Amino acid sequence: MIYNKLRKFPKEFLWGASTSAYQVEGAWDEDGKGLSVIDMCDHPEKTADFKVASDHYHRYKEDVKLFAEMGLKAYRFSIAWTRIIPQGTGQINEKGIEYYNDLIDELLKYNIEPIVTMFHFDLPYALEEKGGWGNRETIDAFVEYSKVLFKSFGSKVKYWLTINEQNTMILHPGAIGTPKGSAVPTKKELYQQNHYMLLAQAKTMDLCHEMCPKGKIGPALNITAMYPETCNPEDAIAAHNWESIRCWNFLDIAVHGRYNNLAYSYLVERGLEPSILDGDIDIMKKAHPDFIAINYYSTATIAASENNASDVSARAGDQQIMLGEQGVYRSAENPYVEKTKYGWVVDPVGLRMTLRKVCERYDLPILITENGIGAPDVLEEKNVINDGYRIDFIKKHLEQLQLAITDGVNVIGYCPWSAIDVVSTHQGYGKRYGFIYVDRTEFDLKDMRRIKKNSFYWYKNVIESNGEQLH
Ligand code: BG6
Repeated sequence: MIYNKLRKFPKEFLWGASTSAYQVEGAWDEDGKGLSVIDMCDHPEKTADFKVASDHYHRYKEDVKLFAEMGLKAYRFSIAWTRIIPQGTGQINEKGIEYYNDLIDELLKYNIEPIVTMFHFDLPYALEEKGGWGNRETIDAFVEYSKVLFKSFGSKVKYWLTINEQNTMILHPGAIGTPKGSAVPTKKELYQQNHYMLLAQAKTMDLCHEMCPKGKIGPALNITAMYPETCNPEDAIAAHNWESIRCWNFLDIAVHGRYNNLAYSYLVERGLEPSILDGDIDIMKKAHPDFIAINYYSTATIAASENNASDVSARAGDQQIMLGEQGVYRSAENPYVEKTKYGWVVDPVGLRMTLRKVCERYDLPILITENGIGAPDVLEEKNVINDGYRIDFIKKHLEQLQLAITDGVNVIGYCPWSAIDVVSTHQGYGKRYGFIYVDRTEFDLKDMRRIKKNSFYWYKNVIESNGEQLH
């Protein structure tokens, strides 16, 4: 659709930026914090671990001041479960509550809306030792933790995100949060974990509505539209297979309280379906999200399965690199898009496509909670970080976002990854995403000075003009 006139960004649009606790805070064992699965993971020898990260725990005031200077209307961050309840259940750590209260107050002081992710990959290790998400009791632990969050922060926080990228945790289990020496769970085990997380999410959404009358809550998934490699109908079927299994299955349950039919047939055929107790589906049907949060980085291009082992590609996968699955789909190349140096497809138009699909399927407000480009930014003389590629990336995505708004999609905010440099999940400190540079390297913490990148000034202008500056 080509329009003569674009709709404006809504007046209350949440111009924001994101981080997560373990990637930004540091202070991994301070003030009573318990160990999480992330603290217990092996790190690739050549990349930073998460112990100090960007030291946001100690420098949050300085950071929030910079966010305010950039003009942020919202800051999406996650709460570390292990700061609040160090062993996952039981004893509450008042220091943890105090820290997040202070952070939230600091944000509100500058009229920055806090958007809180309740769980971003960092399950308490004490729970992992009891079976983690494979143990049905973890559902109650999560609900107990949620209760503490709603009670402590519910009067100040309006936007809540339940679980970050549950689909990444289930579909790329080896890539995130597998503690030293632990085996990667089997697919059957993963789909059981998935079921328990879905129940925990449903109960938490209900609880939020009960405890925080003004609160709004939703899931935050990594959602990616899929293209068929050609107009061969078999390619289109394969793209639809993978889109349903990777994306819609998770959202269908969150919104409608039922598994996606196609994805469930796939699970049954392979003997992967979870054990579902009487009453589980009722719990899921009763709950409802107020909005859908999506993390969008790339699209994927998909070809028909040849139903042999060659369907699965040999390269290592991460959350944006599709591997293929025998009998389901093959990963294919898209000649019309570029890739980052990490192999992630850059596809701004794909964002419009993804937003249209999510809107059409669920008809709920959409909040973009991640989008961005990782790069080894360079600090030049006179404190300049010339990240024109980031400006270009975000500008093109925002243009498509505005087109999606013009298409009629209700997008309520945009929180790119990341507000400030953080430790990347896979590539340490060498792959930066922030608008604010942190002066450290992989292993040399230097002075951790904060320096504004060129994208900081650009984003500030965009926010100030409520998006007019894009044109
Ligand atoms: C998202 C995660 O999938 O991608 C973030 O929610 C992560 O935690 C981001 O940092 C970028 O991925 P990476 O691997 O480049 O850090």
